[in-house]
Amino acid sequence: MSVSDVLLEAARGARARAIAPNSAFRVGAAIEAADGRIFTGCNIENASYGLTVCAERVALWKALSEGVRGFTALVVVADTPHPTSPCGACRQLIWEFCGDVPVVLANLDAVTATHTAAQLLPWPFDRGTITESR
Ligand code: THU
Repeated sequence: MSVSDVLLEAARGARARAIAPNSAFRVGAAIEAADGRIFTGCNIENASYGLTVCAERVALWKALSEGVRGFTALVVVADTPHPTSPCGACRQLIWEFCGDVPVVLANLDAVTATHTAAQLLPWPFDRGTITESR
């Protein structure tokens, strides 16, 4: 489950644009659409800390709001020696909107881990559960 260097570099580039005055923890994400287009995101923090949005969600919202449906891979980059894995909220949204895509975790030098969305969120709640409701 390797991803292109273009996708990796896009996520690293997005990380450089992070707005992280509260945590100083900069994250970049890049998501690849089924048609090959790449959408990037960085984490965005503000003065009322709780409104923070993760890099993954920014990338996803950008793509979805452009009408894109269907994704093939997601890269998350942080400057950590060990893999920085998406938070629980992002895992839910990755699963719902991207399906079982490879989620590639990387730092500034290398890929540190790759998991599928289903591995990150086993036993998910999603629209399939709602439609089964009696
Ligand atoms: N963060 C992300 O953007 N993505 C992740 O996968 C983990 C956490 C951000 C949120 C916050 O701005 C900072 O990292 C510290 O939690």
